[in-house]
Amino acid sequence: MTKRERILVTGASGQIGTVLVQELRSIYGIDQVIESDIKHPGNSDGPFVGLDILNAQRLGEIVDDFEITQIYHLAAILSASGEWNPMKTWNVNLNGYLSILELAKEKRIDKIFYPSTIAVFGKTTPRQNTPQHTAMLPETIYGISKQSGELLSNYYNQKYGVDVRSLRYPGIIGYQSIPSGGTTDYAVEIFHYALKEQKYTCFLAADTTLPMIYMPDAIRATIELMEAPSDSIQVRTSYNLSGVSFSPEEIAAEITKHIPEFTIDYEPDFRQKIAESWTATIDDTMAREQWKWKEEYDLARITEDMLVHLRGIL
Ligand code: NAD
Ligand code: SER
Repeated sequence: MTKRERILVTGASGQIGTVLVQELRSIYGIDQVIESDIKHPGNSDGPFVGLDILNAQRLGEIVDDFEITQIYHLAAILSASGEWNPMKTWNVNLNGYLSILELAKEKRIDKIFYPSTIAVFGKTTPRQNTPQHTAMLPETIYGISKQSGELLSNYYNQKYGVDVRSLRYPGIIGYQSIPSGGTTDYAVEIFHYALKEQKYTCFLAADTTLPMIYMPDAIRATIELMEAPSDSIQVRTSYNLSGVSFSPEEIAAEITKHIPEFTIDYEPDFRQKIAESWTATIDDTMAREQWKWKEEYDLARITEDMLVHLRGIL
């Protein structure tokens, strides 16, 4: 670190933001990390500013006033919610991101983190061991907007030298915050229902395998990527990132080892079609080779850790 970083996190009140902000503040200092969102985080312990990411002028003012050096751009509308309002989703996910890329092009910020997703894949993508560079025909507006964001990241890097770094996050599982509007949300909900009601009705079919990752691994991957030397980052679209892959019936079986009375049934809804358009397992060799990524949590460890923490909270 050559100078003191001042970090802006957009979409900071969401599932990932509430955890990422805490980790960034433990590294850089509370006042060095500015939270922003259209909704207040509730129990923030540091600076927060209201920001609709579509308000480019306000974004610029915040960047200049706080002398921001890095932006972690989390604000987005996710896969399931996105299908209810495709135009708004495109606007927030793409035009909001373009304002940030423009600030970096103007050298008003030094570095951007852009979260992409397994939703950039589609039915033409190999489902198993999905390669880094592969066929992509996303079927949701969320996936289309995120893939377009990946292409813009690469374009601004190649043409203007913007230092943008990105991960294709799998579905993220954590006890600290509640997901909403996503297709992988079931993998968090299931723990809450297992502890409170000992039963859960899953909105995906029993055998729908998807790539997932535990929150501590996802946060560590994000910060390791952002702190890696610039010349080790050879992928400027977005890195494949793998944690663990499982289906609803597999996670239910793991929970049953801790809560024997737990039962699950299945009522797939519109999210089943979305999940079926995504892939099952991810080849993240490039992340492992180029900036030494390695996950720490498998399904057994995730389940044990989730239940221990949620028992103390619920
Ligand atoms: P989330 O929905 O929990 O949080 C997103 C936040 O963005 C919300 O707090 C929301 O209020 C905010 N937001 C929405 N519209 C906004 C706007 N116009 N201006 C400012 N803020 C706005 O999502 P999350 O799970 O925390 O995801 C964060 C990022 O990570 C997203 O970009 C998402 O695409 C990506 N991602 C998440 C997952 C996952 O499993 N959680 C997986 C892959 C990628
Ligand atoms: N977890 C996200 C979703 O389900 C994937 O980006 O929308």
